[in-house]
Amino acid sequence: MPAARITVHPAFTTGPIDRRVFGSFVEHMGRCVYTGIYEPGHPTADADGFRGDVAELTRELGTTVVRYPGGNFVSNYKWEDGVGPRDERPTRIDLAWRSLETNQVGTDDFVRWAALTGTEPMIAINLGTRGPAEAADLVEYCNVAGGTALSEQRRANGADAPHGIRLWCLGTEMDGPWQIGHRTAEEYGRLASQTAQAMRRVDPTIELVACGSSGREMATFGEWERVVLEHTFDDVDYISVHAYYQEREGDRASFLASGASFEAFLHEVIATADAVAAKRHSTKRIRLSVDEWNVWYIDDFEGETNLELRETPRLIEDRYSALDAVVVGDLLTTLVRNADRVGVACLAQLVNVIAPIMTEPGGEAWRQTTFFPIALLARHARGIALDARLDSPRMTTAKHGEVDALSAALVHNTEAGELVMAVTNRSAEPVTTSLEHAAFGAVSLVEALTVRADDAGARRTRDEAADAAPRALDGVVVGDEATTIELPPQSWSIVRLRLLG
Ligand code: AHR
Repeated sequence: MPAARITVHPAFTTGPIDRRVFGSFVEHMGRCVYTGIYEPGHPTADADGFRGDVAELTRELGTTVVRYPGGNFVSNYKWEDGVGPRDERPTRIDLAWRSLETNQVGTDDFVRWAALTGTEPMIAINLGTRGPAEAADLVEYCNVAGGTALSEQRRANGADAPHGIRLWCLGTEMDGPWQIGHRTAEEYGRLASQTAQAMRRVDPTIELVACGSSGREMATFGEWERVVLEHTFDDVDYISVHAYYQEREGDRASFLASGASFEAFLHEVIATADAVAAKRHSTKRIRLSVDEWNVWYIDDFEGETNLELRETPRLIEDRYSALDAVVVGDLLTTLVRNADRVGVACLAQLVNVIAPIMTEPGGEAWRQTTFFPIALLARHARGIALDARLDSPRMTTAKHGEVDALSAALVHNTEAGELVMAVTNRSAEPVTTSLEHAAFGAVSLVEALTVRADDAGARRTRDEAADAAPRALDGVVVGDEATTIELPPQSWSIVRLRLLG
């Protein structure tokens, strides 16, 4: 059995893990909002029409920040349509997904849902068909206490206190030809800078995200980030990263190694941002907002322009396998490992649309396979990310070349007094790893759980998904200086050790 070694020391740290890394995304797309988070008349719905079962699963998932209302949807959205009395709101054509948008959920409603779920709203503004004026108006509507036309409008609409939205995305995927109003990097960079300045004049305390590339595979990737940051460096706090992965016929190894490509992508964006900083002799460090990431079987999607115009269609309701759960676990482990530069991350999306939570209209809500590793990491990867030394066997993949077979994040959970290890074995063989923790003193085992890909890689139905819940990981032997762990092939695991010292 191949062997690996992971060494940790409490003094060697990467940095505190921002709780915003455990974020998600609610877009007006398919059934994410309607019959997802919102379904008046559902047996669990509250007075606002929000489903209680979905709110409960959102809390169980450990979601911290939630991006809203898009995604591509936002690039033709008029936020004014979604506020005020529900029966006066217009129905419009959503150009992104060719759907009928009834506007029964809008900004004020979403902020109430965020309070219900204990999450922080992150609002994206429309830079597809609109610009600085409408963006500044929305900040005024949300964040000004009162005494101005728009803040008084919010108060009249029932929200007396300002929403106090801190995080704002300056549009979304503006590099993508599919985006309504997509632009060149030069055009977007100037517009984003001007918009940021207008928004900050209304509320100087907000945090802003500039659009990075829609994916590492985009032809303009790299140059897009450089040009956009040349324009916006002084105006923004974050640059976005979007990344989706899928298994392709006959190439499971490359899919399992998605985390390696993801990490290279993160490092390339960081390097580009730091190169822009260097040129300006600046010590400012732009952080990453990985505000769309997930496994998505995008090849199965019929494409935006082939969609029939209707209300609440079932769009990209991918069913996930245990293998997908392993990869999702690895992607989130990668984000935790890069805690020094990843400040925000949003799983795309939360409900029904490539989501860990699924619903039936009028019926139950249930957990997909991917729900489990996310919930475990959100619960236990708290505190300080450690700069662990990993000596791993290597594996070869068709798409990503040679990569480490293991991927691990080590966390010093100072609150719970635990050393937590999340680890993926991407290879087809079991691997024995030794976790060298002598510098932490004596430890005892709290819990070791694993999710293992099955051979068939079958996408799971509601009843089958529950069987992919993490099981006890046998073969963990705790020693004074090191713990030995046998990692099953193609698995994601979490091991929690209590610090006894
Ligand atoms: O998350 C689904 C879609 O993927 C989003 O709307 C868009 O931003 C991305 O292309």
